[in-house]
Amino acid sequence: MAGDIDNADTPGVAVLGADGQLGRALCRALGPGRVLAWGREEFDLERPESFAARLGDLRASGGEFVVNAAAMTAVDRCESETELAWRVNAEAPGAIAELCANLGLQLVHVSTDYVFAGRGDRPWREDDPTAPLSVYGKSKLAGEERVRAAQPDALIVRTAWVFGDGGNFVRTILGAASRAARGEGPALRVVDDQRGSPTYAQHLAEGILALLEAGESGTYHLANSGVASWWELARAATQAAGLEVPIEAVTSGAFPRPAPRPAWSVLDLSRAERAGVLLPSWQKGLRAYLESPESPLRGEGE
Ligand SMILES: NC(=O)c1ccc[n+]([C@@H]2O[C@H](COP(=O)([O-])OP(=O)(O)OC[C@H]3O[C@@H](n4cnc5c(N)ncnc54)[C@H](OP(=O)(O)O)[C@@H]3O)[C@@H](O)[C@H]2O)c1
Repeated sequence: MAGDIDNADTPGVAVLGADGQLGRALCRALGPGRVLAWGREEFDLERPESFAARLGDLRASGGEFVVNAAAMTAVDRCESETELAWRVNAEAPGAIAELCANLGLQLVHVSTDYVFAGRGDRPWREDDPTAPLSVYGKSKLAGEERVRAAQPDALIVRTAWVFGDGGNFVRTILGAASRAARGEGPALRVVDDQRGSPTYAQHLAEGILALLEAGESGTYHLANSGVASWWELARAATQAAGLEVPIEAVTSGAFPRPAPRPAWSVLDLSRAERAGVLLPSWQKGLRAYLESPESPLRGEGE
């Protein structure tokens, strides 16, 4: 492990993807004095020729950590823009990890439950065999592998079903539900045959920083605890919002998508728990999100 993320003299941490849901949450959790918030403009994963100078400057100014929360997360788009998905999700993290290793920077890389196959009968452990179903999952897995090869003590955090400050399922469903409640939109139908680990970005960010502060390295699963289907998450969100609209539970076959989704995507969280990091239940995560400044209930959810 490099150093101390609480070094008050200089922003010790650069967050890549700082305008994304997790990136924003990380920047908020770290606070302005401790973080360099690098969005696409400051650090474009499609421009590998710029990485060395940027990371070299970070090291020269006393920075010690890089958290890569940037990714091409549009799962269906990855199916048709395979080369771009590969460059952003696989090649860029590998190149960043090599530079971090050479410069003495500690890399935290964020990955996904979609590295696993679609079926299982218990939550996925970190060392379970991977078998991604989609281009997104394959490109993210390749990113993990390249990071591990270049910096074996990098911290790799796999998470799932994220909602926070940005576009996400909870925001979409609350917008659709409020339109339906006004009699404006179609009736709601949500898949009930995919189960996973819904996760509030702010809780995730705090958990990642707790793992980092505890000096952990290697691969960890981190998500709000508990299990839900998309239908259960939709119902909990609309009930919390006081929207009394019926939601029909349907199977994945009702919504054919370019990228196949795993039916079973629940993460085993016990490794992080042993390291002292256990996030609250997804129901608490949902409540915290709906009460937060970025809540879709504050007027943007439509
Ligand atoms: N969202 C989920 O449900 C989920 C589930 C499991 C794992 N994860 C992982 O968690 C991490 C954070 O995801 P998130 O939910 O915060 O996603 P997000 O809100 O989509 O944020 C990703 C950020 O990466 C940026 N980005 C994309 N291509 C880039 C490039 N070439 N250069 C620089 N930045 C680029 C995006 O910018 P633009 O908006 O300009 O494209 C966006 O700001 C990712 O590693 C993701 O794979 C997410």
